[in-house]
Amino acid sequence: MSIEINLRVNGIVYPLVVDPWDLLLNVLRDKLGLMGTKYGCGGGDCGACTVLIDGQAVNSCLYLAVSAAGKEILTVEGLERDRKLHPLQQAFIQSGALQCGYCTPGMLLSSKALLDKNPDPTEDEIKVALAGNLCRCTGYQKIIEAVQAGAKALRSPQY
Ligand code: FES
Ligand code: FES
Repeated sequence: MSIEINLRVNGIVYPLVVDPWDLLLNVLRDKLGLMGTKYGCGGGDCGACTVLIDGQAVNSCLYLAVSAAGKEILTVEGLERDRKLHPLQQAFIQSGALQCGYCTPGMLLSSKALLDKNPDPTEDEIKVALAGNLCRCTGYQKIIEAVQAGAKALRSPQY
């Protein structure tokens, strides 16, 4: 049994036909071609599939696409504005907070969810916010530094 839904992703409404059991991760990647959202563990353990739904970081590998209908979905592709990277993306590059980059979309979105609520988090608050996002190759210190640098850039009057 297929269902017609409208998914609003990065500000664009997509009319889609999905099965009730289709996962948001698979719909984003396979139906919309938004490959920035990654499949890691498929079980809610790694955070590679993190997207924002109505501002909350969620694991899209555990979230049904039908449950996302009518909500605001943000993927890593929606972070840039006017062909400019988001300050968090700039900070990850400048801080050397990525190597293979597989975890990076999820890290960025969990960080954005944090900074939208708490523009000047402590190191411990950043660690808590990123506790569900695993990185196998960079280590976490540079990622924390990147979030701090991104937060500072977002707080600046120029942004
Ligand atoms: S792929 Fe979703 S948490 Fe790992
Ligand atoms: S940069 Fe490779 S998994 Fe994080």
